[in-house]
Amino acid sequence: MNEVVRAHEVIDTREMRRALGQFATGVTIVTCLGEEGAPVGMTANSFASVSLDPPLVLWSLDRRARSFAALSQAERFAFSVLSQDQVELSNRFAKPGADKFADIAWRPGLGGVPLLPDPAAHFECTRHAAFDGGDHLIIVGRVERFVRYDRRGLVFAEGRYGAIAPHPGAGGVAVEEEGARHPYDDFLLPLLFRAYSHLFRGFADSLTVEETDGGQMRILSILSAAGPTSIGELLTRTMLSQSRFDDACNVLGRLGYVTSAGAGALAITAQGEAKLAELLRHAAERERESTGSLDATEVEMLRALLRKLVFHHEGER
Ligand SMILES: Cc1cc2nc3c(=O)[nH]c(=O)nc-3n(C[C@H](O)[C@H](O)[C@H](O)COP(=O)(O)O)c2cc1C
Repeated sequence: MNEVVRAHEVIDTREMRRALGQFATGVTIVTCLGEEGAPVGMTANSFASVSLDPPLVLWSLDRRARSFAALSQAERFAFSVLSQDQVELSNRFAKPGADKFADIAWRPGLGGVPLLPDPAAHFECTRHAAFDGGDHLIIVGRVERFVRYDRRGLVFAEGRYGAIAPHPGAGGVAVEEEGARHPYDDFLLPLLFRAYSHLFRGFADSLTVEETDGGQMRILSILSAAGPTSIGELLTRTMLSQSRFDDACNVLGRLGYVTSAGAGALAITAQGEAKLAELLRHAAERERESTGSLDATEVEMLRALLRKLVFHHEGER
């Protein structure tokens, strides 16, 4: 890990932005009604809690923003705290756009102020105070109504979006296990092996569609991605034994899914591509069932970590 410790006596704004990025925040879209009642909104991560009694929150508004006039004067405004699958919405409202609200099923809240769909929370406010904040205006809102939804919030840190994961060192990952635990259980290899055997059951079922099995699916996948491939190369990449590989190639040839591409090479046929698409659909369904205890973001985090581990050893192929 790079450890760069620099004291900036002359403030470099780019570096200051990077240093501020070390402070993780959530992401909101702040909305109001502009002139002639048109909806106005922008992505903001400067949202912060101020006081519970009275209930106050604040945010800071860039004086150069196109929405400055509307948002700085609005007597009512609202925050939609974004949920973890709303990155696209965040990006849409972070660009000066003609109609950020087009095709979005927003609904009017108190005073008609737009509330965006599927958030982690809504806070509806009246303007309480505003203060000079340099190139920003600090606006304090009094919360008139709020709703908390059962969704995880989106995170923004180090200039990137993130997802909430409980910190393993803070007792955050509570796993209930039956029976006596062995110190060996927490090594990655036994955990991976146990996870593998649970996932494999579902996955193996999904691969046994008619006559096709996992080995055949690997052959089809490689041929689909890489184009015609020599039999030697295919054998190495499938990691099958010679006899299983020969059997798989014979079945795939008989079913018309692969064909000879000359000079000891095989190619996938159009029927083979269709079969592969069907197998992949089945596999994705089974995977969703087997990972049911994790939410979609956690599954993608697990996938990303495993790929990182694999590529560390194999190099990106
Ligand atoms: C994650 C994120 C957080 C942001 N937070 C703020 C903020 O707190 N205040 C602000 O004025 N702009 C913020 N911005 C930038 C505005 O969303 C952006 O300038 C937007 O284009 C403003 O819209 P407008 O120019 O149509 O008013 C943020 C952008 C992103 C991606």
